[in-house]
Amino acid sequence: MTVVPLRHYLQFASFDRAEYDYLFERIRWIKQRFKRYELYQPLRDRTLAMVFEKASTRTRVSFEAGMNQLGGIAINLNRHDTQLSRGEPIEDVARVISRMVDVVMIRTFEQTIIERFAAHSRVPVINGLTNEHHPCQILADIYTYVEHRGAIAGRTVAWIGDANNMLSSWLEAAQILDFKVHVSTPPGYRLAPERSRLLPARHFEAFAEPEAAARGADLVTTDVWTSMGFEAENDARKRDFAAWMVDARMMREAKPDALFMHCLPAHRGEEVSAEVIDGPQSVVWDEAENRLHAQKALLEYLVCGRVAP
Ligand code: CP
Ligand code: NVA
Repeated sequence: MTVVPLRHYLQFASFDRAEYDYLFERIRWIKQRFKRYELYQPLRDRTLAMVFEKASTRTRVSFEAGMNQLGGIAINLNRHDTQLSRGEPIEDVARVISRMVDVVMIRTFEQTIIERFAAHSRVPVINGLTNEHHPCQILADIYTYVEHRGAIAGRTVAWIGDANNMLSSWLEAAQILDFKVHVSTPPGYRLAPERSRLLPARHFEAFAEPEAAARGADLVTTDVWTSMGFEAENDARKRDFAAWMVDARMMREAKPDALFMHCLPAHRGEEVSAEVIDGPQSVVWDEAENRLHAQKALLEYLVCGRVAP
């Protein structure tokens, strides 16, 4: 049996440009086979453990369905059903689970938790969302852009809203895949200067006005104003973000063929108007579906290594 070097997918920057080129091709191939109802089961007898410390619909279903479709099985572990809720150290959980399964997906709070898990794991660990990153979502989002419009290199993505985990992953992706992110966040919610200072002007530009960020963009995207774990700030955020809703007027600032994306779940009438998310420029359902195909390619890559030239 070929030994596959141990790799983790903890943030978008875990992989380089060549690996993404390979993955996009695998996503396309795996999706095509799936659409033709052709069995493809390279992960027979393999097991994925999914650890959820936060709620999920898309990540849960796409990983579990994807693992089954690849011939393997998925075990779902919620914080409250496991000894994690009674204080078992994450390092011990990693040592034990990783002796029993072939790959682990975790959705948790601080990035340091997943890093500690990975440092003690014998098998690949995938970030299914932390407070700081959401790389699986951006993998699917960029694949969705490529499917609809071709290569993302040289394009402009407008990020309207919170400087959250999604934005961090977009900014990493921009540097690896060579595109630009226009960012507009309300005052008080900006990227920390120690982070923005390190971002090259070729890949990042900040705008006070959301309309200015959207101007000329190829893709306009946003996310909830209050991410999981920050619910105590919800009322203040609803006030502070009120002018940052992506609506038809804001979309008109972007290129006429600009796409709209949202990782979901969405709040119509808050970060996006119903007219935009349910309108002709929105590709949010393709984007959600592509979580399935993208993560199947990711699971294949981490467990089997490169399987195609
Ligand atoms: N976009 C996303 O990660 O959705 P879930 O929270 O439902 O998994
Ligand atoms: N930024 C959101 C994404 C949800 C998929 C959150 O972390 O809650």
